[in-house]
Amino acid sequence: MIIAVSGKGGTGKTMVSSALINLLSKTGKDILAIDADPDSNLPEALGIDVLKTVGDVREELKKDTASGNIPSSANKWDILDYKIMESVVETPEFDLLVMGRPEGSGCYCAVNNMLRKIIETISSNYDFIVIDTEAGLEHLSRRTTQNVDVMLVVTDPSYRGILTAQRIGELAKELEINFKKLFLILNRVKIEDGKNLREKAEATGLELGGLIYEDSVVSEYDMEGRPLIELPSDAVSVKELTKIVEKILKFH
Ligand SMILES: Nc1ncnc2c1ncn2[C@@H]1O[C@H](COP(=O)(O)OP(=O)(O)OP(=O)(O)O)[C@@H](O)[C@H]1O
Ligand SMILES: [Mg+2]
Repeated sequence: MIIAVSGKGGTGKTMVSSALINLLSKTGKDILAIDADPDSNLPEALGIDVLKTVGDVREELKKDTASGNIPSSANKWDILDYKIMESVVETPEFDLLVMGRPEGSGCYCAVNNMLRKIIETISSNYDFIVIDTEAGLEHLSRRTTQNVDVMLVVTDPSYRGILTAQRIGELAKELEINFKKLFLILNRVKIEDGKNLREKAEATGLELGGLIYEDSVVSEYDMEGRPLIELPSDAVSVKELTKIVEKILKFH
């Protein structure tokens, strides 16, 4: 099952992704976490140092090709596949792949195209793949996330966050991308705003998958720079995410 976490920047995609990875890894299944955000921050949330990203691997291969270190008869895709597998970080609980970005001012499209290919080739090795996507709509328009089973669209209570969420839903329809399930996740909700926000969520036309309250434990972890994957299971955010995971597992 491929699960993607999307939404406007800063709404809590990485927090939600790391909690999902933690909760899913407790099922004992094989999990691959993919950080598809060029401004990657999933590794920190998972408490992992990443030495090499897919972007780095691609740059290396480009340089090796230019300098003649790779024979012209070699199949570049095979070498790339092999090198990408090498950049997967393995832990006892889950594996992690970080897409990164190309050097300098280059476009992200190449890395995005590679991500689509990686998802196609690697997915059969895992029970669950969790993708922390780049903020905004590009992952849809570039069809990077077209084979995703469950799309979680995270928003904070801001007008613009909710608007982005609505646009993600609309664009998916327009592009005829049929997720098995698309859930809206309202995050960082203040208790007193809960009712009002449920109404706003309904107006987006997206099915509400969960409502996560502003969590002081998350803020503490943020301030101390502690990995969010270590959040205790009784934190309000993790409790709500546990319910969300139960809903997702129904589609497995
Ligand atoms: N429910 C919550 N309660 C308190 N703080 C939260 C909550 N959810 C997220 N945060 C905090 O809000 C900030 C933004 O969250 P996060 O980094 O997960 O967002 P993001 O969508 O991944 O951002 P970006 O687009 O920059 O990657 C982080 O400091 C995070 O710890
Ligand atoms: Mg993030």
